[in-house]
Amino acid sequence: MCGIVGIIGTSPVAGDLVDALKRLEYRGYDSAGIATLHEGKLARRRAKGKLKALETRLNGEPLAGNLGIGHTRWATHGKPTEVNAHPHISDGVSVVHNGIIENFKSLRSDLEKDGFVFETETDTEVIAHLIARELKANKSPQEAVRDSLGSLEGAFALAVIFEGHDDLMIGARRGSPFAIGFGDEDSPGMYIGSDAIALAPFTNKVSYLEDGDWVVLTGQGATIYNEKNEEIERSISTSMAQALVVDKGNHRHFMAKEIHEQPDVISRTLSHYIDLGKECVDFSSLSIDFKTLPRLSIAACGTAYYAGVVGKYLIEQWGGLPVDIDIASEFRYREPLMSEGGAALFISQSGETADSLASLKYCKQQNQKILSIVNVNESSIARESDDVLPTLAGPEIGVASTKAFTCQLTVLAALAIHIGRQRGVIDEAKESELVRSLVEVPRLISEVLAYEEEIDRISHSLSQARDVLYLGRGMSFPIAMEGALKLKEISYIHAEAYAAGELKHGPIALIDENMPVIVVAPEDRLFDKTISNMQEVAARGGQIIFISDATRESAGCDLAHHIVIPKCHEFVTALITAIPVQLLAYYTAVHMGTDVDQPRNLAKSVTVE
Ligand code: M6R
Repeated sequence: MCGIVGIIGTSPVAGDLVDALKRLEYRGYDSAGIATLHEGKLARRRAKGKLKALETRLNGEPLAGNLGIGHTRWATHGKPTEVNAHPHISDGVSVVHNGIIENFKSLRSDLEKDGFVFETETDTEVIAHLIARELKANKSPQEAVRDSLGSLEGAFALAVIFEGHDDLMIGARRGSPFAIGFGDEDSPGMYIGSDAIALAPFTNKVSYLEDGDWVVLTGQGATIYNEKNEEIERSISTSMAQALVVDKGNHRHFMAKEIHEQPDVISRTLSHYIDLGKECVDFSSLSIDFKTLPRLSIAACGTAYYAGVVGKYLIEQWGGLPVDIDIASEFRYREPLMSEGGAALFISQSGETADSLASLKYCKQQNQKILSIVNVNESSIARESDDVLPTLAGPEIGVASTKAFTCQLTVLAALAIHIGRQRGVIDEAKESELVRSLVEVPRLISEVLAYEEEIDRISHSLSQARDVLYLGRGMSFPIAMEGALKLKEISYIHAEAYAAGELKHGPIALIDENMPVIVVAPEDRLFDKTISNMQEVAARGGQIIFISDATRESAGCDLAHHIVIPKCHEFVTALITAIPVQLLAYYTAVHMGTDVDQPRNLAKSVTVE
């Protein structure tokens, strides 16, 4: 989703703005632009498409100026054209914005009545005109922004610069993340960005605006105000983003690198929650008492939702706690009935997903204890939670989530053990057995990764398909859903997942000899049931790709391909079967030549509804 950056420096900032935007590319975007101030005058360059197009533009028409703002736009209102690209300008006011101004239509007609002429179809342009109108009423830039913010409804992180003010930038946050970076002798100046990763080359001293805050920046520092316009201090922390390597290493894509990182990041996550010596889990930092908890509600989006579905199976079966699981965008509007004294768990890689955050706020109002599993510790979801369970996946840059997903599964599995122990559902011996099965996971995943070339070959046939069906039962059902989502996202092939038992209730009508059917079937207690459904597919000519630790013979029918996974404890099968579905999607997309890391229309961090 859109990314914003801003720099008040001591030398020309255009190049640094583009570099900062490059670090936000992973969020997904379809146009980009920057505006700078030089000797009091505003100038901007914008381009449709990737940042390369903007760089080409800047090479031909460079921008001077030691102060500037930049933006990567993920289109919401209006097509991804150069005209709609940010920054937007009105009478010497230039704005970049991440989020959605929900009341932009009424604001727009009001501004048009006052003679403001709109150039774009965007919601953002109203912000520039609103501020310009306040300036015309002889207000200072600070007063103009402060008073305009009061008219805006919706979610935003925005930055504004003003013609004639070479040492002033104003930012504001409501809903969307906003980081402030404090420069030092090496990189003098002040910085703003959608996250600390964007600011990492310049500074690791970072402060985050809270919801409703706005900030006045000069080259010397930042003055922050809260939503009541009272001056307020926000703590400055040392961001780890500089230490985090954000490159592809020897891999062709971030997604490939992130798939291969899984044994390491799962080990790292495990060591955070497991005492290896004692073979037990350690959740001593949690304030939630699961012993008396009536139920747990989980809400999340996309891949994180599928992790939640696996979590439900794990926590109900091994933790003995009833779990509700919802897609966050549904949860937030269906006004769910919450149990008194209950708890809600939110799973999110970014920790910024708008629907998950809104669901969290609903649960807070319902007096639920809030728990979250996030990959970004400074994120909004983390900061709103009573207890945070970090995934230690490191930055995930590929839009298609891979290592964050398996780290979420890892935390959920360890949590299920903790809950089971607190509720007396499992004893010490069972805890040791389950912990040992988790500790095996990184090695088992490495074994699956060794099949990569084989999966690459199999993917050639998938890349010819128009539609693909995924089947699974039990914990393999959410893995089938995750596999279908991965394939759709990066190869643009239509894919659907069904619980294998649902097949005969409709989807079996789709099966013919052109339909690849990926069956996720570890040899667990549901294996025979899944095999029966697979035979129904085979009888109708479906092209079966069998992902299983069972032998080819045990399938009892013709298989187009067999992807062998290692034998493992049933507690951890979801962690192992997740890998081949990731690799199948990855190689299919590679064969199709799509933009694997930044697939069309998608954003990494979905900060709008
Ligand atoms: O940051 P989050 O985990 O909250 O994001 C949720 C989804 O937007 C995300 O998982 C999305 O579905 C991914 N692109 C899946 O690969």
